[in-house]
Amino acid sequence: MDIKVYPSLLSADLLNMERSIEIVKDLSDALHVDIMDGHFVPNLSYGPSLVKALRNRYSIPLNVHLMVEKPENFVDMFIEAGASHLGFHVEATHHPQRLLKYIRDHNIRPFITLNPATPLNTIEYLLGELDMVLIMTVNPGYGGQEFLHFSLKKIKSLREMADKEGINLDIMVDGGIDLHTAPLVIEAGANVLISGNSIFNSENPREVIIKMKSIRYKEV
Ligand code: DX5
Ligand code: ZN
Repeated sequence: MDIKVYPSLLSADLLNMERSIEIVKDLSDALHVDIMDGHFVPNLSYGPSLVKALRNRYSIPLNVHLMVEKPENFVDMFIEAGASHLGFHVEATHHPQRLLKYIRDHNIRPFITLNPATPLNTIEYLLGELDMVLIMTVNPGYGGQEFLHFSLKKIKSLREMADKEGINLDIMVDGGIDLHTAPLVIEAGANVLISGNSIFNSENPREVIIKMKSIRYKEV
């Protein structure tokens, strides 16, 4: 399975966003954009205007991660802004299947995200409605946090569940992904690496992405 890398703009240079993106964009499979509401997570970040500005300027897919309560109140503005993938947390809404369908009906790839402590059975019956799941490998809200190793078990179980059902699932991981933890999550079954700090705060962001994409199971 090919490894995809989605750099997380949370760690890009806020006052030189364009420069940060130019460095990574031809090597990236999508750009990850974190939306925080100060309720679901104890932090604030961007809104739909950033997604719109990115969409107008770049053709690269935009992977939008909503860390907000009641995401059903926000999806329209991100659909309109031009998100390519739009994901919300299963903990944040009562009717995840309805929201998945709503997003897909607008020709946008939906995804569901699980916090580190959220069990997989919350999405067990939704797997047939999904082709992307995001497993948080830190508690969401901030960049640069330490990877939670217990997430590996969940990634492995999710890959097993998807294989058993014959579903070709993109398993994304987000939080604390660097060149040490990437081989671990890939071995567990993840194929999409979302990474902020280890890419944008490194001396050589391009080299980090190239190395991440070249990881194979044997390196574990
Ligand atoms: C955390 C965000 C992540 C964040 C990951 O709440 O969802 O996307 O940017 O950052 P790193 O890779 O620095 O842990
Ligand atoms: Zn994120």
